[in-house]
Amino acid sequence: MDKRPERRTAVKGRGKSTPVRLAAALLTVLAVTSCTGGVDGTPGSSGTHDPLFPRLGNDGYHVQHYSLDLDYDPASGHLKGGATIVARATKDLSAFDLDFAGMDVAEATVDSRPAAVNRAGDELTLRPRQELTEGATFTAYVRYSGSPKTITDLDGSVEGWLKSPDGGVLALGEPTGSMTWFPSNNHPRDKATYDINVTVPDGLQAVSNGELAAKTSNKGRTTFSWRTKEPMATYLATVAIGPYEIDDKGITKSGIPVYTAVDPRVKKQTAAVVAQLPDIMAWEEKNFGPYPFSSTGVIVSPAKSAGYALETQNRPVMPLDHFDTTTLVHELTHQWFGDSVTPATWRDMWLNEGFAQYSEWLWSEEHGGPSAQRLFDQEYAKDDGDEIWSFPPAEPPTAAEVSARPVYVRGAMVVHKIRQAVGDEKFHALLRDWVGTHRHANASTAEFTRFVDKEAGQSLPAVWDTWLYGDGKPDSP
Ligand code: TRP
Ligand code: ZN
Repeated sequence: MDKRPERRTAVKGRGKSTPVRLAAALLTVLAVTSCTGGVDGTPGSSGTHDPLFPRLGNDGYHVQHYSLDLDYDPASGHLKGGATIVARATKDLSAFDLDFAGMDVAEATVDSRPAAVNRAGDELTLRPRQELTEGATFTAYVRYSGSPKTITDLDGSVEGWLKSPDGGVLALGEPTGSMTWFPSNNHPRDKATYDINVTVPDGLQAVSNGELAAKTSNKGRTTFSWRTKEPMATYLATVAIGPYEIDDKGITKSGIPVYTAVDPRVKKQTAAVVAQLPDIMAWEEKNFGPYPFSSTGVIVSPAKSAGYALETQNRPVMPLDHFDTTTLVHELTHQWFGDSVTPATWRDMWLNEGFAQYSEWLWSEEHGGPSAQRLFDQEYAKDDGDEIWSFPPAEPPTAAEVSARPVYVRGAMVVHKIRQAVGDEKFHALLRDWVGTHRHANASTAEFTRFVDKEAGQSLPAVWDTWLYGDGKPDSP
């Protein structure tokens, strides 16, 4: 709802005396012709009311497309960046915010005209010469440089522009780290398409999301031009720079191109699992329906780079210390659950992790390991004081708990309770329909429970009240 005072109506001055009308009209003319623009616009907000990360993202516009030009010098760690952001104003805007942490901003324009720049914390405010009208599409450009930082997030995870001693880089962004290397509307709610062009010294590879459209060399430097045609959340954007060995010849049974980048130092230990990727994809397509993106693959980095794997869109990043079949199953499952169907807020995180964890259980069940029921029972056997019962999966109490065990394990237990309630056949249809219905969009927990109740033809209050929202260990499995 737009609660802004209707000044435009007021200056029409119906029923007002002539002098007031004239004065008002004059003011309007002055305001419109002055360099600060019209009279109606107000600044967009510097957050988007996320229950766990209220300062992330911004209101007042939606981004349609990011085009990033990144020129990186591994020797000095210096990055020169240009971000062109095509967006649509969702209200009359006198100014708007982008999320951007660190780096120096040299210049910003809106629709090719210089814009005033202000920075406060992680907020970059652009004030265009001319106000933006609700519904208008505009292009913001930010030129910047510096050494992008590594941040330790509220949940304890290390993110951002992670450098390895040999000059390699891994850019990871869940939940907040992408704002260290490009300015954005940094909230999963605002998905957009991307062109990511990375220039590095000849001999190094630069791997990103989507498909490689071009690779050009000039004066000892190579530019890799990556294109992401399907909408992507900011936290799923990645860049990996290093001496990667590339294999772009693979293809899945369903015809999806496979692009893998493996650090030569970890090739031996990881080759067998990387080779399983097409089979895992086939199994997941059978379970979750058509793969939502135009390419797949994996980025296998050296051990110490991150300390966790991440479901970066199209090709997850997996360090050696998080590299096994189960983790690959998990990260590829996220391509459906998280990357295509993206949580509406960070509180809805279990819609990602609960399903990715449950997919591990299903894989086990269908590949000679313990059944999902066995794995569920093992978890249920954990005593009252165990961490998995510390909060209900749909309600992480603070940002620090967004990736805690209840989100994963008890999230998977919710999925299992649904399966028990509706039976295997309906359960599998339900998984496919859920990702089919919300393909390339966002979804909340409330939308999920309504969806399941409707598809199941019955309400499942015991599952929701006890397993999804209930405090503590449920009384019975
Ligand atoms: N999503 C990653 C995975 O399970 C793990 C992860 C890394 C994560 N950083 C996070 C989860 C921040 C939640 C929040 O594959
Ligand atoms: Zn996960």
